[in-house]
Amino acid sequence: MTDSNVQRKRVLVLGGTVYLSREIARLAAERGHEVTVAARGTSGAAPEGVEFVRIDRAEAGGVDALRGREFDAVFDVARLPGLVGPVLDALAEGAGHWSFVSSISAYARHDVVSDELHEPTAPDSVDPALERYGASKVACENLVRERLGDRALVSRPGLIVGPGDPNDRLGYWPLRLAEGGEVLAPGDPERPVQWIDVADYAAWLLDAAEAGLSGTFDVIGEPVGMGAFLEGIADALAGAGIIAERPSLTWVEQEFVSKHGVNHWAGPQSLGLWVPSPEYDGFGARPSAPAVAAGLRLSPLADTIKRWWEANTEAPQLIAGITREKEGAVLGAWHDRTRRFAVPQAEA
Ligand SMILES: NC(=O)c1ccc[n+]([C@@H]2O[C@H](COP(=O)([O-])OP(=O)(O)OC[C@H]3O[C@@H](n4cnc5c(N)ncnc54)[C@H](OP(=O)(O)O)[C@@H]3O)[C@@H](O)[C@H]2O)c1
Repeated sequence: MTDSNVQRKRVLVLGGTVYLSREIARLAAERGHEVTVAARGTSGAAPEGVEFVRIDRAEAGGVDALRGREFDAVFDVARLPGLVGPVLDALAEGAGHWSFVSSISAYARHDVVSDELHEPTAPDSVDPALERYGASKVACENLVRERLGDRALVSRPGLIVGPGDPNDRLGYWPLRLAEGGEVLAPGDPERPVQWIDVADYAAWLLDAAEAGLSGTFDVIGEPVGMGAFLEGIADALAGAGIIAERPSLTWVEQEFVSKHGVNHWAGPQSLGLWVPSPEYDGFGARPSAPAVAAGLRLSPLADTIKRWWEANTEAPQLIAGITREKEGAVLGAWHDRTRRFAVPQAEA
């Protein structure tokens, strides 16, 4: 345990075999808590030193292995309310604190910063359609609050970055900037982007559970311009001795980048963290202050990049990102276009 005032707690992580939920379980065990993780066991392995209980929340009776057990703190990362109801039935009564990981996608609008939420899906919905992700999270949140009351903490993270991210949207940038040369930078360098480091988030969730914090919080870092973000990564790489020469960024208008088949935000052929304006003007500007006031500590970007880099010594296969060929084609077309509109020196 990091703090001798913090008592050893019985911690249950529903999930605990991948990325965020695994980091919560790993850190809880490191802090000396008695940790149980519960999952199907198909996505990954539990961290060392924790109890693994096999459950399948989608099956009738699939959480019976946990029924009646008591925990001081429960963490859940589910996406579907139909999978949240059964664990609440089995465990809510014997839980001291329940921390539900929702998402910034619970908000209905991303063009402005607004607290309007999606209409929730039905409380027993198991519809996994991506279009209903935000609405499903709202329904999950409601179930947790209804059953746990002031023992419930609901957090809404924005983009979670760090080692082990299965959809790695950060990773393209340090890898590409480390390669050097001319780098395609999308849109407006002033356009704000936000992220939360998985280590900071897991630490805060544990601190909050240990302190019995309840309520609803966005969990996200301070907005930073896309230009400052990319330069910050280059600074981190230079500071760590990974690059000797700085890459040069060429900023290309967002419509031009999109028109050439580069997607924003995530997935194949995408540039991570980049979102178009004005549709997503509210997306990079969620408030970080309330969670910071409630104890969230934000790592400097250089530390986040260092941790990501050290965990990825073997270059990872990223889902997000574009090939060097694609980047070269877009940059080539951009320079051709600029050249066409340039006034020849003799005529100037
Ligand atoms: N990544 C981001 O940038 C981002 C942004 C905003 C919000 N979020 C939220 O952050 C959370 C991320 O959680 P995570 O990193 O731990 O990843 P995750 O993919 O949500 O993990 C799901 C966990 O639940 C288990 N699971 C899935 N189906 C199950 C079932 N039917 N029965 C029992 N267990 C089941 C999985 O293990 P098995 O498959 O082995 O069962 C795994 O351990 C999610 O709530 C996500 O919505 C993420």
